[in-house]
Amino acid sequence: MVGSLIPSSRFLAKKILKNIPFEDAKVIVELGPGTGIFTEKIMQLLHPDAHFVVIELNDVFYQNLKAKVTQENCHIIHGSASDLQKILSDLGFEKADCVVSSLPLSNFPKELRVDIMQAVMNILTPIGTFIQFQYTLQSKKHFESIFTQVSIDYAAINFPPAFIYRCSNS
Ligand SMILES: C[S@@+](CC[C@H](N)C(=O)[O-])C[C@H]1O[C@@H](n2cnc3c(N)ncnc32)[C@H](O)[C@@H]1O
Repeated sequence: MVGSLIPSSRFLAKKILKNIPFEDAKVIVELGPGTGIFTEKIMQLLHPDAHFVVIELNDVFYQNLKAKVTQENCHIIHGSASDLQKILSDLGFEKADCVVSSLPLSNFPKELRVDIMQAVMNILTPIGTFIQFQYTLQSKKHFESIFTQVSIDYAAINFPPAFIYRCSNS
């Protein structure tokens, strides 16, 4: 469920962050923040009028993040990414401009993986961006079947080294 023994590097975080449209995004979602290596940096760059919804399944990670984050526009949610649509709607948001995911999708049963990607598609705006990092290229075909644009970057300074997928339909 956690998918990694150690948190991602700052180098990987930098590569993820450069894909997030901070100037234009009104709602940004993070799936699987873990210890919050990306979360903290996204909060620092978040537009003051934007909202940031962070969804973590693990109780310990959730409690730690909840205790640390006090900004009113950051919503730390204890739940599953598969309930993304309901979580957003309960917060009063219909769509998100960007979804950043660290979920270990390759470890998930196919049904859960498909459910989560369907939920992501349902809530992304037509020009929205999905960003996912993974340690293999296993999900490339799956992402290419959903998105018209899939570009891949590589973070060598990370353990293990990681691929960063940037996906959109615009
Ligand atoms: C590889 S860790 C990533 C942690 C951190 N973002 C990083 O890069 O170091 C994956 C995280 O996804 C969380 N997770 C797993 N399944 C989830 C689900 N269905 N919904 C939300 N979070 C989930 C795990 O608890 C874990 O914190």
